[in-house]
Amino acid sequence: MDEKKIIAVIGATGAQGGGVCRAILKDAGSGYRVRALTRNAGSDKAKELKKLGAEVVEVDIDDAESLKRAFHGAHGAFCVTFFWEHFSPEKELAEAKNMADAAKHADVRHVIWSTLEDTREWVPIGDRRMPTLMGKYKVPHFDAKGEANHLFTERGLPTTFLLTSFYWENLIYFGMGPKRGEDGNLYITLPMGDRKLPGIASEDIGKCAYAIFRRGHEFIGKTVGISGDHLTGGQMAAALTKALGQEVRYNDVSPDVYRGYGFPGAEDLGNMFQFKRDFESVFCGARSLGFSRALNPSMQTFETWLAENRDRIPIEKGPLRASGE
Ligand SMILES: NC(=O)c1ccc[n+]([C@@H]2O[C@H](COP(=O)([O-])OP(=O)(O)OC[C@H]3O[C@@H](n4cnc5c(N)ncnc54)[C@H](OP(=O)(O)O)[C@@H]3O)[C@@H](O)[C@H]2O)c1
Repeated sequence: MDEKKIIAVIGATGAQGGGVCRAILKDAGSGYRVRALTRNAGSDKAKELKKLGAEVVEVDIDDAESLKRAFHGAHGAFCVTFFWEHFSPEKELAEAKNMADAAKHADVRHVIWSTLEDTREWVPIGDRRMPTLMGKYKVPHFDAKGEANHLFTERGLPTTFLLTSFYWENLIYFGMGPKRGEDGNLYITLPMGDRKLPGIASEDIGKCAYAIFRRGHEFIGKTVGISGDHLTGGQMAAALTKALGQEVRYNDVSPDVYRGYGFPGAEDLGNMFQFKRDFESVFCGARSLGFSRALNPSMQTFETWLAENRDRIPIEKGPLRASGE
């Protein structure tokens, strides 16, 4: 009989959930089996997980009954929501409720809820330092996740609240990589002043989550923050300069300027960076580097991540790279 405990992973074909699946599946001696949850078991990514040994099960987090089926018999559940799919904090809250209900229904023994700060605890709605968005949020994609924490605690679920950090993959997929300015120079733009931005290789989130599942009781009811590096915009630009072999400068704009860029989510992200800037000690303090590395000894730094990923960062190639650096 297979004595392995099942970990049901939401977002298994995505960054966070995918990392959780791979961390478990790559550990041959793990006492766990992976139930990879996806809307489409026929996708290439789902098939890849199956090939690695996962049980692939279809779920839609907007469909409460499908979640109950997906969590049935699971020891653990990794729960995450996908704000950028719909830009709706209300939908995120409803999805978190569906997951918490399903985890309760299935009597899951350990839930990891991938959450973020409800920034309104530090910047109340009436605070005019940053605009209120969507009527009642400061950083919608943070606030709804933080607000959803109570959905897990109220149900008495054995939950670890996992505070993640800015993925460095945003430089690859989220339009945050270096851009060439009109003066011909490359710039990364962040409204962070001289404050530090905690960052992480998204794959490391999964490794940390796996360590949390393994260590179990120690982390139930706890909030755990993780990061691979705390770097200023200037330090990130210097690391990019070294890795890419061409100068990248830090374009330090004000949060107001950033909010005005007009791309979908610009105001939300402008407020997010302002929160991280203005509450640096709170935000970095919640994501200790020493603790993160103790949890996941192979945690990447920005430098090691860049060494692996520099060729995936979409920028115009300048003469230094072309000359073979
Ligand atoms: N970018 C950052 O720096 C950062 C940092 C911290 C936290 N976050 C948060 O991370 C969250 C996103 O996580 P991620 O980056 O792991 O996502 P992701 O890589 O975009 O993956 C999303 C996955 O979720 C699945 N999915 C989407 N809608 C679904 C639904 N209705 N039901 C079931 N599965 C669904 C999709 O899989 P299928 O198509 O296979 O169903 C997709 O592969 C966001 O809420 C964001 O706020 C982001």
